[in-house]
Amino acid sequence: MRTLLRSILLLVLLASANIVLADEGMWLPQLLQSLNEKKMKQQGMKINAEDIYSINKSSLKDAIVSFGGFCTAEVISDKGLILTNHHCGFDYVQNHSSLQHNYIRDGFWAKTNGEELANPGLTATFIVRIDDVTTEVLNGIPANATEKDRQSKIDANIAALRKTARKETYQDLVIRPFFEGNKYYMFVTEVYKDVRLVGVPPSAIGNFGKDTDNWMWPRHTGDFSIFRIYAGKDNKPAAYSPDNVPYVPKRSLNISLDGVAENDFTMVFGFPGRTYEYLPSYAVSQIMNVNNPAKIGIRRTALGILNEYMRKDEQIKIQYAAKYASIENAYKKWQGEILGLKSKDVVRKKQQYEAEFQKRVNANAEWKAKYGDLLAQLQAAYAQLEPIGYARDYHTEVLARLELVTLAKQAAKLINAYQQNGANGYTSTAEKVRDTLPDIFRELNTNVDKRLFAALLQKYMQDQKPENIPATLQDQIKQVNGDYTLLIDQLYAKSVLIDSVMFSQLLVADVESSVRTLKNDPAYLLYTALQTNYTTVAGSKLNEVQARVNSLLRTYMAAQMEVFKEKAFYPDANSTLRVTYGNAKSYRPRDGVNYGMHTYLDGVMEKYVPGDYEFDVPAKLIDLYNKKDFGRYGVNGKQPVCFIATNHTTGGNSGSPALDAYGNLIGLNFDRVWEGTMSDIYYDADICRNIMVDIRYVAFIIDKFAGAQHIISELKFVHPKKKK
Ligand code: ARG
Ligand code: GLU
Repeated sequence: MRTLLRSILLLVLLASANIVLADEGMWLPQLLQSLNEKKMKQQGMKINAEDIYSINKSSLKDAIVSFGGFCTAEVISDKGLILTNHHCGFDYVQNHSSLQHNYIRDGFWAKTNGEELANPGLTATFIVRIDDVTTEVLNGIPANATEKDRQSKIDANIAALRKTARKETYQDLVIRPFFEGNKYYMFVTEVYKDVRLVGVPPSAIGNFGKDTDNWMWPRHTGDFSIFRIYAGKDNKPAAYSPDNVPYVPKRSLNISLDGVAENDFTMVFGFPGRTYEYLPSYAVSQIMNVNNPAKIGIRRTALGILNEYMRKDEQIKIQYAAKYASIENAYKKWQGEILGLKSKDVVRKKQQYEAEFQKRVNANAEWKAKYGDLLAQLQAAYAQLEPIGYARDYHTEVLARLELVTLAKQAAKLINAYQQNGANGYTSTAEKVRDTLPDIFRELNTNVDKRLFAALLQKYMQDQKPENIPATLQDQIKQVNGDYTLLIDQLYAKSVLIDSVMFSQLLVADVESSVRTLKNDPAYLLYTALQTNYTTVAGSKLNEVQARVNSLLRTYMAAQMEVFKEKAFYPDANSTLRVTYGNAKSYRPRDGVNYGMHTYLDGVMEKYVPGDYEFDVPAKLIDLYNKKDFGRYGVNGKQPVCFIATNHTTGGNSGSPALDAYGNLIGLNFDRVWEGTMSDIYYDADICRNIMVDIRYVAFIIDKFAGAQHIISELKFVHPKKKK
């Protein structure tokens, strides 16, 4: 009887766990107590909302930083050590790398503070406090204000608020819109500007599986790197100085060695970049059928060319590594997004939601007056947006891939400065350009850029309507009888911009003659022709339609919150601090396929291809594997590597800590599964999973692989599951 009762109880428990499992949402930390705490505890959390975010005592938020504004990192020692992803620190590792010191290939481990490498421009930002400033920011805006008038009033209100807001002199203020501009929050921040590289594993660990495995599960990547925040002697933010000292944090995370099991509570705390959860069906189908396919096609062409060069030339591989990774990353994600949106029939689901919205609106006289034709207006605005959005995607995607265009943009800056402020304007801009040129040329190979230019220009001509192509370009192509290679050869032969010595000379030579040379440069002329044509035909119209769409979306957001009162709303991601929670969980991507929630070092060895571009494994790691030398980081003779959970994350959440029910570090977020990347637009608990490196793999690599005991001794390990 007793056992029967117990098993029934267990069944009920399991069933209810399933119902509350897999939570959607990127929640505001300051609202957890009112909106989420109860649910979080039901899902297994053992701490309080106050332990996550508090302005009165030290809380977990004091251990979380925005890493450079594009990733997340967390403090893991009392001497300012922070942990983030390999791919977040990668550009900095690349900057320190050369054929002699190939840290990309071999990894890097500073043995002393003195060996840690400075990274100019890299910041680590803490959030001190978050205040609701909606009333102040939206004060005095007439109901019928144009978008432009509304924005200038908002800007004025924000400027006034900045003057009176309570903060210390060494702190900063950030004020951001939420819910499409229906709400505003102010963030008091502390921005540390001296962040140094401490350790990074070889790419064969940190980026194991590269692009083939990117966005994929099962995954076996040790995607981490370690930096240290340095502060002035007063522990406050300071510009880089050799005299700076390791930062002493308000809070650093404890590391759990007890691991994570199916259905365990997990929470991810970080800075998700951008999501679009409340778009109408028309917008979703446009992304799926027009914008994503356009961008994917352009990137496919570019990646094919880059890949060819990088595989046969180690120098080009170093030069283009970061660029390639970032082009490929979104390229693959957009494909997964289309796949998920289709397989989960998202457009139809959105239509059903819209039908319910319309039904409720029609049944209420006040709503009907305000929102009655809102959806129809949105549909009309998106129809207008479609062709110009397509032109925009081509314009931005193609131009962003070409380094000669990047150089032409520098030339345009110089010419503009001269036209506005004469020789003085030119000279001061020339100093800035001089500082950026080395970065551009370091990651540029002329042959690669020529091939890209010829191929992408041809694609542009084929796919764009004639009105989007400048007449001068059409003429030039006629003159070479459609031979794009010839056209581009001539362009590069005649342009001075592609020659770093010649371009640099123009920055210090006689201003008038330099301006003349720049103005006649064929690359500059082609770039301005493309730019001018785009602005005239598509760009200005785009701004107008986009402003209208934004205003409608703002109203639609407010309307949804008013009409669906029973729903808890979270604001779309906007690179501000958020908490997402869920449970470690396996998934079924397709019928008949079941993916487990953990991977092990055995899987690394299964994927191992000696000498391979993507799946090589360092000899030392193979050795440790063969000896089963996992120390305290292994479990039952196996070394855990990665795991997945239902946390709702996006780009920017890379490097975010995965925390257990007590707030201990159990993993490092770095990716999502391919089938679920549409969670930026629609979260589906069946297939949306985030991917984390198991913290025990991170510690194993630092300790056993790199032998960096000095780092291990800074960390605090705990055993939450063993304590009673
Ligand atoms: N997909 C992950 C993210 O969105 C990892 C990207 C880095 N890795 C790569 N192979 N490109 O950032
Ligand atoms: N790798 C992503 C990043 O850099 C996180 C993955 C995602 O988009 O969820 O932030």
